[in-house]
Amino acid sequence: MAERLSLTLPPTMAAFTASSRILPAASRARVSLAYSPSSSSASLSSLKCLGSTPLVSRLFLNQKRSPVVRVVSERGLSAVATPKCAASDPDQLRSARADIKELLKTNFCHPILIRLGWHDAGTYNKNIQEWPQKGGANGSLRFEVELKHAANAGLVNALKLLQPLKDKYSGVTYADLFQLASATAIEEAGGPKIPMKYGRVDATGPTECPEEGRLPDAGPPSPADHLRDVFYRMGLNDKEIVALSGAHTLGRSRPERSGWGKPETKYTKDGPGAPGGQSWTVQWLKFDNSYFKDIKERRDEDLLVLPTDAVLFEDASFKEYAEKYAEDQETFFKDYAEAHAKLSNLGAKFDPPEGIVINDGPSESAPEKFVAAKYSSGKRELSDSMKQKIRAEYEAIGGSPDKPLPTNYFLNIIIVIAVLAVLSSLFGN
Ligand code: HEM
Repeated sequence: MAERLSLTLPPTMAAFTASSRILPAASRARVSLAYSPSSSSASLSSLKCLGSTPLVSRLFLNQKRSPVVRVVSERGLSAVATPKCAASDPDQLRSARADIKELLKTNFCHPILIRLGWHDAGTYNKNIQEWPQKGGANGSLRFEVELKHAANAGLVNALKLLQPLKDKYSGVTYADLFQLASATAIEEAGGPKIPMKYGRVDATGPTECPEEGRLPDAGPPSPADHLRDVFYRMGLNDKEIVALSGAHTLGRSRPERSGWGKPETKYTKDGPGAPGGQSWTVQWLKFDNSYFKDIKERRDEDLLVLPTDAVLFEDASFKEYAEKYAEDQETFFKDYAEAHAKLSNLGAKFDPPEGIVINDGPSESAPEKFVAAKYSSGKRELSDSMKQKIRAEYEAIGGSPDKPLPTNYFLNIIIVIAVLAVLSSLFGN
């Protein structure tokens, strides 16, 4: 037997269902909550998205059963959905992304935000099973102990830029914010669209930071071996090492931070942003394949080539990719986008486990009209979010994707009679 309880909730609560786009958030909705005694596995975390409302949290926190939530709008549409919880709130992620774009326009901080994301993720060790000890994209780089690792010199400035956004969007984790900022910076600098997902859970304290020494050195005795040691430990391969190194097409090295590079060059003495440092490329705020071209040609003393950059054209396996990327920007962009997305997921614990995609959110484009034919063409497997959307759209009009909608026989008969009438009047004359 199911217990049932009906509540009238304000629009903000009505908007929490995964399929809320079919229901106007501005309208008041009646929510009925039904419990199935057969399922007994509701955990605290699975209820935390409801927990933000004291009334509802009091109702739920002591329950041990999974709620099924039916939202009924004033227009009478209804949809069944299980409450969707995530480490980060999708709407806040979208707003944070818009704010990051503004920050980039005024601060020209693309390079340092990319480096922040990379250094949070790049501590991943695939040989460690436990989270967060395995390292990776878990936001641990926000803790002083890790920021003080020599490899992270200067990154406190990136954290300072993002902290106001973290304060504004408390529903976004640090781990997501770092990766969001990094991917947005690549895209805004003219780079490829990165197929990102979000929902990374944060490490909770400094004791969860990885030990020092997991990130690469720029000048090791044997650069190729060193790069392989470090990147293979992350589960990345030669192609990914070369593609990711292409991020040095952006930014500068500063001797007072890493010990590498000139204090200033003709390309950096006037900024933009804080002047100084040595860049790898002439246009160091534009993401393109010039990093590979410039290392290959070595025609300009003012451009930086670290030992770990140079080796990309010396080691036979790396060289194959470096040459290709110098020739073909499209291939570089494609490989970079894949490698960056992979890097951003290293070691991350996602909630929900499949992550959340924020690319086609309502704040960017109007909700798409449902066109069944669009979903039935081709043989591609649909994403989970698309399946969920289709199901919600069907259910909103009383149907289900598993069985066809009831045919309107009366309408069909009228149409047939009308067609016959037109034909007989045509041929009868
Ligand atoms: C392959 C091994 C790598 C080494 C040895 C290395 C080393 C360095 C060094 C020494 C700097 C200068 C830091 C400073 O003085 O402020 C730097 C900057 C930078 N690195 Fe790397 N890096 C590596 C890989 C990567 C990867 C994989 C990415 C991103 C996917 C990346 C992105 C950047 C960016 C964007 C900057 C510029 C930061 C700024 O201008 O503030 N690096 N890197």
